[in-house]
Amino acid sequence: MAETAGAVHVRRGSSMGQPITRRDGRLKVTGQARYAADNHPPGMLHAVLAVSSIARGRVVALDLAAARAHPGVVEVMTPANRPPLAQHPDDKPGPFVFRMELLQDDRVRYAGQPIAVVIAETLEAAAEGARLLAPRTEAEPVRLGLDGDDAFIPETVGPGFPAEARHGDVEAGLAAAERRLDAIYETPAQYHNAMEPHAIVAAWDGDRLTVDTPSQGLAWAQQRIAGLFGLPPDNVHVRSPFLGGGFGSKGLVSGPQVLGILAARLVGRPVKLVLRRDQMYGPVGHRAPTRQTLRLGAGSDGALTAIHHHVRTQTSRFDDFLEPAGNVTHTLYAAPAIATTTDAVRVDTGTPLFMRAPGEASGSIALEGAIDEMAAACGMDPLEFRLRNYAEVEPISGKPFSSKALRECYAQGAARFGWAGRPLQPRQMRDANGLLVGWGVGTATFPAIMFQGQARAVLRRDGTAVAELGAQDMGQGAWTALAQLAADGLGLDLGQVEFRAGDSRLPDAGIAGGSSHTATAGVALHGAGADAIAKLAALAMADERSPLFGAGNAGVVARNGRLLRRDDESRGESYAEIMARAGLEEIEGRGTGAMDPAVQEHYATHAHGAVFAEVTVDPELGQVRATRLVGAFAAGAIVNPRLVRSQYYGGMIWGVSFALHEQAVTDPRTGRIMNANLAEYHVPVNADVPSLEAILVEEHDPHVNPLGIKGVGEIGITGTAGAIANAVWHATGVRVRRFPIPLEQLL
Ligand code: MOS
Repeated sequence: MAETAGAVHVRRGSSMGQPITRRDGRLKVTGQARYAADNHPPGMLHAVLAVSSIARGRVVALDLAAARAHPGVVEVMTPANRPPLAQHPDDKPGPFVFRMELLQDDRVRYAGQPIAVVIAETLEAAAEGARLLAPRTEAEPVRLGLDGDDAFIPETVGPGFPAEARHGDVEAGLAAAERRLDAIYETPAQYHNAMEPHAIVAAWDGDRLTVDTPSQGLAWAQQRIAGLFGLPPDNVHVRSPFLGGGFGSKGLVSGPQVLGILAARLVGRPVKLVLRRDQMYGPVGHRAPTRQTLRLGAGSDGALTAIHHHVRTQTSRFDDFLEPAGNVTHTLYAAPAIATTTDAVRVDTGTPLFMRAPGEASGSIALEGAIDEMAAACGMDPLEFRLRNYAEVEPISGKPFSSKALRECYAQGAARFGWAGRPLQPRQMRDANGLLVGWGVGTATFPAIMFQGQARAVLRRDGTAVAELGAQDMGQGAWTALAQLAADGLGLDLGQVEFRAGDSRLPDAGIAGGSSHTATAGVALHGAGADAIAKLAALAMADERSPLFGAGNAGVVARNGRLLRRDDESRGESYAEIMARAGLEEIEGRGTGAMDPAVQEHYATHAHGAVFAEVTVDPELGQVRATRLVGAFAAGAIVNPRLVRSQYYGGMIWGVSFALHEQAVTDPRTGRIMNANLAEYHVPVNADVPSLEAILVEEHDPHVNPLGIKGVGEIGITGTAGAIANAVWHATGVRVRRFPIPLEQLL
């Protein structure tokens, strides 16, 4: 494969597609990788948040004297002495901006809200100072849960999707159906629980600010902080090379991060603030619970006649983020009539936020369950039913898919799993220990999107290069995958390319969210390399002393640090030779990554997959274990199969978590989350992770972007959760519509 950049043909595929191990692996396993909270500038103080134990009301009093008297405590920040901000924390100056609790007043709007910050010489003193504040509060009755006849219909869901979408006449489709399903699925509130909690080390120098803080989008963080403090963005320096996970919660600057900056302002010294695990449950976002009503109609031939997917969800009393759970129904199955609708109630919690396949994860668990129920009602194998209703074009928009190898995913996954041996009826299989065994399938889907990103590449006189952008590594191996794409753009071996990232002074790489980062940043890096090579080639082709002189029309090829004539590849010279003759120390290239609006207009761009799950269920205890998962995914070009597989494994483990483990439990009287810790908020541990296989299904996408890359970060969760629930039905004959699957329903 080759891509044209001017008259230069940069070969693709020399690094791309290689299963290279992580370039930062050694740094991480030896503890050398520097995470935000590892930075300790001289004179640094420690800050600890005091948070509210009520969910609604106000703070009446704090024992400031006791806290200040504690040895080592330097200052206590409250609404009375909090330094001023240029923007009110409730202002929303643009899209992707959420309201924050920054000690603007004495109001409490959810449990776990920051109400004061104690700053001390040591972490221990700050923690003790926070305890000594012993807040007195006035609690007001809390409103929680999904019930209520005062639900509102939002205009948009998630980050700006229409709240309602329709095609065809759903009621007519349902009326005409031979088989109908009307089922309610419920998903719980979930919290991100990245291994690294939100953290910040903030240091002021006059009106210049340096922050070390985990961020999925450095330039957005820089802009947001600059806006809040009324600073030119260049005065705000954000460093974030590595994240211990983000999952959406580090996509935007959160309140506690800004409180760390305010604390440093107040005391005039650098301050470090790290959230305690329980403090992650409130001010930094979560996935809201949903109650989803699926109404499906099908003919006697198993063809769907209508799908209505209604989502009831909740948001905070003071801001809007609506889990966009209906979106999957726009994409997955063909039906002559489809409608998705949403309404929501306002509750006394923190504002929900993007979390691991926001919308697709919760929505697909309901849709995949309903599809499975309808297959059973039609007496059909669930895979056959899915193929019967295969969407050849995106159902809701009628647009063709830019590429869609879902049929191959079904076929390859089913073959590998042994699906052909599955009994149609439930409760037919047992293992050697007498446990019930079931097999289920779920379809995975996630949109292939791009944000805007830029990159810079510099060819150096010695034939090596630098490629750089303000990206970060969330733990998924971005430093490696992106360096591979940069090397290909430069026509160099990976080892010749120095990769720099994690700093807001580098070109804005956009946001690592929506599974879009490799596409956005990768296209930008590849383009930056190709731009530098085009300049180099122009020099050589205009120089009589070069073997490339006059190659203009036929063009040149960049490979292994050499430019070669396309019409005679034995004639060429090294980058270093060209630069030496031209007397240049370096050549710079720039690149941009963004979705082409024409592609967006004409095509539906999605990754797809099929996940096959085996579970065992103890007939006496109801205990469910996922024992085997085979996922087959088609997501365009594969940058690094080792890393891609690892992303799919991670996604599938989230799916296990969604189906069987995760939920935040709230005390209905107080609004406090009762399991705000990793002991009781269950996520899979190694013993819960089944045998995993991820098949990388070949898919060439000529449209989605010049490299044909879709995203792989979040799709794994979407097929897996439904596949597991469907396998539980197949094991037991019990259709569970609540998540995580309650064992008592299986007895
Ligand atoms: Mo992801 S929830 O788009 O960071």
